[in-house]
Order: sequence, then C-alpha cells, then structure tokens
Amino acid sequence: MRKSFLLSSTSTIVSFLLLVLPCADAQERAVDAEGHQWWQHAVFYEIYPRSFADNNNDGIGDLNGITSKLDYLKQLGVDAIWITPCFPSPQVDFGYDVSDYENIDPIYGTLQDFDRLTKEANRRGIRIIMDFVMNHTSDQHTWFVDSKSSRTSAHRNWYIWHDGTRSGQPPNNWLSTFGGSAWKLDPRTRQYYYHYFYPEQPDLNWRNPAVENAMFDVTRWWYKRGVAGFRLDAVDTLFEDPDLRDNPLLPGKNKYGDPNMDEKYNKKLPEVHDVLRDLRKVADQHGAVLIGETWTKNIDELNQYYGEHSNELQMPMDFMFTRVDQLSPPEFRKQIAAVDSAGGWPVYVISNHDIVRSYNRYGDGQHNDAIAKLMAGLYLTLRGTPIMYYGEEIGMENNDPKRKQDVKDPIGKLGWPEEKGRDGERTPMQWDEGPNAGFSQATPWLPVPPSRKSHNVATELKDPNSVLQFYQRLLALRHQNRVLLDGEYIALNENNPNVLSYLRRYKNDAVLVVLNMSGTEQQVSFDLKPQGLSSQKATTLLTTDSQQAKEINPSQLPLKPFAVYVASISK
Ligand code: GLC
Ligand code: CA
Repeated sequence: MRKSFLLSSTSTIVSFLLLVLPCADAQERAVDAEGHQWWQHAVFYEIYPRSFADNNNDGIGDLNGITSKLDYLKQLGVDAIWITPCFPSPQVDFGYDVSDYENIDPIYGTLQDFDRLTKEANRRGIRIIMDFVMNHTSDQHTWFVDSKSSRTSAHRNWYIWHDGTRSGQPPNNWLSTFGGSAWKLDPRTRQYYYHYFYPEQPDLNWRNPAVENAMFDVTRWWYKRGVAGFRLDAVDTLFEDPDLRDNPLLPGKNKYGDPNMDEKYNKKLPEVHDVLRDLRKVADQHGAVLIGETWTKNIDELNQYYGEHSNELQMPMDFMFTRVDQLSPPEFRKQIAAVDSAGGWPVYVISNHDIVRSYNRYGDGQHNDAIAKLMAGLYLTLRGTPIMYYGEEIGMENNDPKRKQDVKDPIGKLGWPEEKGRDGERTPMQWDEGPNAGFSQATPWLPVPPSRKSHNVATELKDPNSVLQFYQRLLALRHQNRVLLDGEYIALNENNPNVLSYLRRYKNDAVLVVLNMSGTEQQVSFDLKPQGLSSQKATTLLTTDSQQAKEINPSQLPLKPFAVYVASISK
C-alpha cells in the first residue's frame, strides 16, 4: 500500500515537474509590475575570452578559465556575460572571422566546456550571451571555400562577387573600414569579392534567402544549447547597394591614407531592419535578447534599431555616450536626456574591446581611480541596462604597444603609428600582482601593464577604498534598490557646469545622484519641492567620501573633487 502510494506520488511528482519545468522557463520571461523583463534589470559584463583567464596555461584565456571565475563575477554583481567570439576561427581578427558557427575553437576549449560553463553560470543565476558575427565569415569557412571554388559553385551567391572594371580596377570605390579597397581579386575565378573588414572576412550576401536561413539556424542552434541572447556584430554593414554605386567622396584622408567618403551605399541600408525584425521573431520564440553593436550618429538612428513597433533589437548599444570624451556635465546631460527619451530601453556602455579604456579616456593622470568611480557612479545609476567591460571594475588601463613589431591587431600594423590597433584595451585581466597578473602561468599573448601591481582583484579586495569595492557596493545597491532599477530619470540643476545631478523617481521614493565632475570642491543645493519632495533630509546610500554624514540636507551639500554621492529621499 505504502509502496504503491510512494510510486504513484513519485510519478505524480514527475508529471508535475514536467508540467512546471517549461513554466519555469516562461516565468523567467515574465515581466514585473513595470512591464520590465530580466535584461532590463540585469548587469551585463563583456568578456574577451583570450584575455580573461587562462586555465590550461598556454598564454591564451579559455572557457574553463571563465568558468573558474564565475564566483568572482557573481560576487561583483554580474547577471549576464557576453563572450566575444569563441568559435573556430583562423583568428585573423581574433575570432571575428568565424570558420564554423556551431563549435568552439580548440584554443578556447570544447562544446562540453561550453555546456559546463553554461550550467555553472545558470546555477549562479548568470546568463550567457554569445557574439553573432553576421556580416561576414572567415575566408576559411566551408561556405566561402566553396563559393570561391568556381563561378558556378553552390555557394557562389552566398558572398558578393563582381567583375572588375574594364581597366582592371575593383568594381567601385568602396573602402574597407580596416584600410584599402573593400574588394579583393580572386585570380582563379577572375572576379572580386567584397569585404568591409579584412580580406579574410568576406561579406555574406544577405539578399540570398539561403544565407538568411543558414544564419538564423545558427541562432536556433545556440538557443537550444542554453544561450540567452546574442550581441549582433557589425549590423550596419549587412547590405550593400545592388547597383554597387560609388560612394560620394569627402574632403581629406583617413588614418590609413585613404580618401574620406560618405558610406552611403554600403552602410545602414534600410534592408538591415527587415533582417533584424525576422531575427527578433526567432529570438522571441526562445525568450532571447538581442543586443546590437549599433554605431549611430543620433537618436533617430538609434530608434530605428529598436524598431518602429519595438520589434527589432531590445538592446541597441548607445555608443554616442562613449563619444562624450571629457568629464562634461552639459555633454552627458544632453546625451542622457536624448537616449532616456528614446523609443526603447537605454543601454549604456563606457568601454569595450574596440575602444580605448574609459580609465584612460576620462582619467586626468592624477585622480584616475576617483574618476573611475565617478564614471561607475554615472552609468550604473542611470535608467537602463549597463554593459561593463572586463577589468573596468578594477581600473584597468590601456597598455598600447610601444613598437610596431609588437602589434598583434592587424589594423595596428596597417595604420601604425597613427592607428596602434586595439591590443591596448584587450590585455589580460589582472587577478593579482604577480608577473602575469595571475592570468596565466605562461607568457600571456599580450603583455600585462605595470599597473597590475596596484590594480588587480586580489589587492583591491583587501582595500575598502578600491575601485573594485566601489563597483561591488554600487552594483549591490543597484540590484536591491527599486528606484534605481525602475525609477524615471529627472535631470536636476541643469545649469551647473561642474556637477552632474539627477533624481531617479519611483512612485513615492526617490534617489538623488550627485557627481562632481570637477577636480575642485563644490557646494550644491537642491530644491526638490517641484518634485513634490519637501523633506529636508537625504539618507546617504553610497558615497566616495568616507567623511560624508549619514544624513544630509539637500539644500547644502559639500562635495570633494570627483565625489560620487547617492542618497534616498522620501516624500
Ligand atoms: C566589430 C567588432 C570588432 C571586429 C569587427 C569585425 O566591430 O567589435 O572587434 O573587428 O566587428 O567583425
Ligand atoms: Ca588557454
């Protein structure tokens, strides 16, 4: 009797579990009271896998290295990691030249390592975002190898092939963004193929439905493996003018010595949005999020990436924010106001693997740590989702090559000395003060800078004033504070040229954020009555000034140079 009860209850439990398991997935997709989805409250963290942690000690980071650092990421307050391409690749562009979309490059590990990483990450509530290199493949991809093999091959039309001009010139004047003509002659079939990036990165022909099908299937394949979304690489460049018209020339030359041009016919063509809408449909079937590498000139362009009916990218990155290249409250105010009133959820970034680290861009050479905290205080308290770049949280700085022969990034070789390439912002994560910064026991693929001695995880975990501990406190606050997660953004004291201040407001609660962007002491005064806040009391939540009182009067707030001050105010 008892046994059969047990048996039947076990089978009831099993069928119950079968019923709820798909629901658990659906629940993760569920929205909160504000209609917000998980990615709107998440903190994303970009990992450049070559440089994060080297588990097998060959000098190059790997997936097992990432897995070994998940506890660190959890403790930091990271909810999702975006791993830049770790697929099989000849590594000409360090992974952005993919030769097989459905595998892991042996230098990074195996699919089993990937599965383990996903499992361990999910166990800690961390989701995995992969990088989807859509515009081009590697020239070693079987599709291109076949495409190149003859004018009539099955994959010929998967890429963009064209005859040259009668005088033996490339089909038109389009330039590669990595220097020189965007066309390369294949001597065997006597046609040119188009490559917006390196010649080893031929552009796919997205006008061919077979390409679209194959590429969409790639995303399905990874979704089924547990990936929570994709960062879409180089979406601007998916389509080219079918008539291959010449781009209009502009005055002057670029850093490679090529003429400047308006990339009117090979960038940002309207067809891009058709693909993004369709890709979004696939993503929606899997509850996935799409993040865009969206270089835009203005908010109208950014809005197009959200889609007219919010049916394209949930998270197009706002790179205009990274173009504010000085600590200028008026400039930041302008950019925040613009993206905050855009058609979708703001996505803030201050660094990545293609741009000089924020530590160098904003640092003044004397107060760099204070400024690193100031920048954290800014983009981690705004309404929107931040995407951090590994090492930012410890104040990592660029370590640019000093000599041309040390350059690894091909654009640095091509554009030296004006363009030193992107090695500087891709150096190994600094885990401790040892000679290889605890990244590897072998010589790392890129040299670690001397700053590893002071700026590394181990040292900073011991120092309550470190950049790292400030990030940890700030991210902890952000996760638990409803106002910071959901509240609207209200600019304050908009005429102050030195101090950037704003209120985050959620129902009856408010959080005041005050950022002294100057190297001098400042005194600020807030009149919050127009916001319906009559209280003369603000309760400090977080500050860089250890002497700041627990409670302050917002009508007279003194600020140290580069100080961050965050306080809650109730009605
Ligand atoms: C994107 C990547 C960059 C890469 C390029 C070509 O801009 O972020 O690193 O070189 O695409 O794939
Ligand atoms: Ca390795």
